[in-house]
Amino acid sequence: MAGCGESIEMDAYEFTNAWFKEEHKALWAQLFGMLKPARLLEIGSFEGASACFAIEAVGAQRPVELHCIDSWQGSAEGPFATIDMGAVEARFHANVARARAKAAHEVALHVHKGRSDDELARLLLSGARGRFDFVYVDASHQAPDALSDAVLAFKLLRPGAVMIFDDYLWAEEMPYGRDPLLCPKPGIDAFVNLHFRKLKVLSAPLEQLYVRKLTD
Ligand SMILES: C[S@@+](CC[C@H](N)C(=O)[O-])C[C@H]1O[C@@H](n2cnc3c(N)ncnc32)[C@H](O)[C@@H]1O
Repeated sequence: MAGCGESIEMDAYEFTNAWFKEEHKALWAQLFGMLKPARLLEIGSFEGASACFAIEAVGAQRPVELHCIDSWQGSAEGPFATIDMGAVEARFHANVARARAKAAHEVALHVHKGRSDDELARLLLSGARGRFDFVYVDASHQAPDALSDAVLAFKLLRPGAVMIFDDYLWAEEMPYGRDPLLCPKPGIDAFVNLHFRKLKVLSAPLEQLYVRKLTD
């Protein structure tokens, strides 16, 4: 969640931060090689850095269906206070258009603009239960929101699918210290504990948490 501010031009993409790093790309490339995902869901897209990588990596191998959920309203976390989210949303659309143009295979991109709880519930109601091979959870970093994103997204995964939680160990430093409700870990831990018989926690670095769904 650091490094916001100046614009970084990468492969003609326009990203204003480096939240999604080369190390993430390397790990995702390895995972995608094993998982061979075709239907992906991202909760929290911002300028599309992680979405563009998923489109490029998966779209080079096979047709890809990618669903991106974002309110483009920002988050309560500190770094968002000064960000022009209208400009962020415009950069998201320009960036994913560039990624789609590079992909060897067809890319079906579905953008769901709205609150993640509403959009995840809408996806469930539309019949997408058990549809996805991969989900990246990277929206609100407040514990109750991380919990509801996890619980709803889990229902959208097929058994064998992998769910990644970004910033598992991240916490905002408040003037009074770290607030246990203003970080994702307690929400993610509650989800993992309650679904313990239905998932396997995978070993992973990068302050992220990877879990594989075992069963509904
Ligand atoms: C950390 S950024 C995502 C970064 C992106 N995955 C990347 O790699 O560049 C978090 C995004 O989640 C969105 N967001 C935060 N809370 C949300 C909520 N409750 N519902 C939908 N989107 C939300 C914000 O608008 C922001 O764009």
